[in-house]
Amino acid sequence: MRNPKKTLLWAGACAIAALLVTGSVQAAPAPAKTAAPTPPMGWNSWNHFAAKIDDATVRAQADAMVSSGLRDAGYRYINIDDTWEGERDAGGVLHTNAKFPDMKALADYVHSKGLKLGIYSSPGAKTCAGFAGSLGHEAQDAKTYAEWGVDYLKYDLCSLTPSVEKAATLEEGHAIEAAAYEKMRDAIKATGRPMVYSLCQYGINQPWRWGASVGGDLWRTTGDISDRFSRMVQIGLSQAGLAKFQKPGHWNDPDMLEVGNGGMKAVEYRTHMSLWAILAAPLLAGNDLSTMTPETLSILANKGVIAIDQDPMGKQGDRVHAEGPLEIWARPLAGGAKAVGLFNLGDRPANMSVTTAEVGLKGPHALHDVWADKDLGKQASFKAVVPAHGVVLLRIAAK
Ligand code: GAL
Repeated sequence: MRNPKKTLLWAGACAIAALLVTGSVQAAPAPAKTAAPTPPMGWNSWNHFAAKIDDATVRAQADAMVSSGLRDAGYRYINIDDTWEGERDAGGVLHTNAKFPDMKALADYVHSKGLKLGIYSSPGAKTCAGFAGSLGHEAQDAKTYAEWGVDYLKYDLCSLTPSVEKAATLEEGHAIEAAAYEKMRDAIKATGRPMVYSLCQYGINQPWRWGASVGGDLWRTTGDISDRFSRMVQIGLSQAGLAKFQKPGHWNDPDMLEVGNGGMKAVEYRTHMSLWAILAAPLLAGNDLSTMTPETLSILANKGVIAIDQDPMGKQGDRVHAEGPLEIWARPLAGGAKAVGLFNLGDRPANMSVTTAEVGLKGPHALHDVWADKDLGKQASFKAVVPAHGVVLLRIAAK
């Protein structure tokens, strides 16, 4: 087993690297087909369990996904992140390590619950936690995943990152990662099994400009999230301006959820969920579903928030207005409705207000307070005292 501290350091380094790279690469047209018509919803092992993930724990998460009602709320994928990998045999076929005795049986179990299974690898020789990556074995690995019944692949740049960053020019660096991502895209396609293809390279070289063209259904836009309010907010706000690069089926991914992991208060987790919903971000729970509190469940399962995230128009929102720690963000919804978040990221309660005109509507419209699940009647403006680190999330009807 690798040292989890080292892994965290590496992930941190990746985050810094992402911030350092500022150049841009050419946009390319996206293919029309997607395995993720709305932002993927599910669970991923990394944020809570990191290297302490095994077959029994994954089964427990699948069980809890169903018994808690999260599956029926829309959460579908059970995604195993890094540290499942074992050794390659003489023929080059990759096997699981002792923590996962039978991946096919695990996939069957997950499928039997009406859920889908995701897995993780890297285009480099090593994954971020130092396990075997897919370099030189792409077709073989994709075939193995398909035989197991995998439905989702997170492909994490990891040990290929230095070659991308140290290339003589930005274009050369980008060509290395693009070729690597295309190789696995083609390998997955050749298996004939549809898989959601999740690119993870921490936002280096602006993947929102080219992620779709190398087959990505979603692409990480930032370094790793952590279970701290300041980091979650930093990541969320850094998505300003990225809406124009996303299209339905091809999503910006500001990383997985930390809701319920204990480092933030409930009010802060509601801010996290609200911001991710306005961003049309994938909703991949990152907590232990088998021990979550009713409060955590109520945040993850909130129907109104999920409906915003999964809005069929699939259009990401953006910042409307910011004044110090007070930010208003809005997202266009199907049929001309809007989702509007009044975010108070400061340390004291604050008076906040918004008019329908500020979010592109005119005059009085029916307002709904999503977290309070309360209709507020027809109004042209809205005022509230928003708690410190909190949010009021509104759904504004088209009429
Ligand atoms: C990081 C990645 C994390 C997680 C981790 C596993 O690079 O951003 O989400 O997958 O690797 O080692």
